[in-house]
Amino acid sequence: MLFPMLSIVVPTFNERNNIPILADKLKSILESHRCDYEIIFVDDNSPDHTWELAREMSLADEHIRIIRRVGRKGLSSAVIEGFLASKGDYLAVIDADLQHDPEQIPQMVNELDKGDCDLVIASRYIDNGSVGDWNKLRILISEIATSMSQLVMKYRSTDPMSGFFILKRDVIDRNIEKLSGKGFKILLDIMSVDDTLQIKEIPYTFSTRLHGESKLGNDVIVQYMEFLLERTFGKYVGIQYIKYMIVGSLGALLHFSLLSFFYKTLEHTYSKSLMAAILIAILFNYSFNNLWTFRSHRLKNLSLVTGYFKYNLLCVVGALANYSVSMYLLGYVDWVLASFIGAFVGANWNYLTNSIYTWKTKHE
Ligand code: GDD
Ligand code: MN
Repeated sequence: MLFPMLSIVVPTFNERNNIPILADKLKSILESHRCDYEIIFVDDNSPDHTWELAREMSLADEHIRIIRRVGRKGLSSAVIEGFLASKGDYLAVIDADLQHDPEQIPQMVNELDKGDCDLVIASRYIDNGSVGDWNKLRILISEIATSMSQLVMKYRSTDPMSGFFILKRDVIDRNIEKLSGKGFKILLDIMSVDDTLQIKEIPYTFSTRLHGESKLGNDVIVQYMEFLLERTFGKYVGIQYIKYMIVGSLGALLHFSLLSFFYKTLEHTYSKSLMAAILIAILFNYSFNNLWTFRSHRLKNLSLVTGYFKYNLLCVVGALANYSVSMYLLGYVDWVLASFIGAFVGANWNYLTNSIYTWKTKHE
């Protein structure tokens, strides 16, 4: 009988010291288990030249392959590219730093072989599993992130953030166009687009990293939030629009807090306080839209300054629209509702015009 072929995708960024050790372990484990396999490193042009070492390894061993990506970055999208280039019937993902125990792969393959599931997750949160020696803060962040994931998928997986899992190729083939590829959470990405999966979980202990350091920084947390927003509201509106509205709401909140601080606490005149609150809130909105909402079209240097003038000019028109709509509606509805609708119309005007003229994003 022919055994299914296994492709193991290993995303790497600065993992030069880890990959030979991982490859050796995988090799000895899989070769003692009758497996036909390939190991695919997907490296985002690591400054430590992980890709170069992986290339040398691939020349010496036909089971090893390497995809070097230039100008693209991110764990999820790296794994997706690895999947697309793979040949196997079963596709596994494992970190390069030996925090996941490769000894568990044969057991995971076995579960798929049984035929009653199409995804096997190594979980830290079922009996006998563990996060190892994490500090309290990281445990808390992980728990919050895990419970938030319930927003976007129906499964009660104990560890949807796991970076160690194996699935049948068909799962990827039929869902590939729906995957977002954003951020770190490839498993959640897959589970949130397919609610027909049969899932099994096996326990594992997350060990300490062998060499190098973790890439899980604040930007990964922001990307995760964006991913959840996109999956929740993305069917209705674009992620950029959602971000703009979030920044706008935070700006409004800041405006009122500053106003009350200057006027009530510091006891400045109302007009001075209002002026200061408006100026700071506009600066806040402009900066955060530039840093976050329109990150991929971020303005720098001189265009940051000219952009600021454009932004103000367009927002003045938005304010006029806000004013006229609110005034008009005041005759029909209560003042709170009138002001909300006015602000909403103004904000939409601001979004539309600024995304076209200030940040020059394309609107298809
Ligand atoms: N190609 C590529 N591009 N690889 C990356 C990138 C990237 O931008 N960022 C990280 N990697 C690789 C790392 O080199 C490593 O092999 C693997 O992805 C995991 O990255 P780590 O930086 O070691 O992540 P971690 O140990 O903090 O997080 C792990 O545990 C999390 C659970 O809390 C990962 O398994 C996460 O997927 C998992 O969610
Ligand atoms: Mn790691």
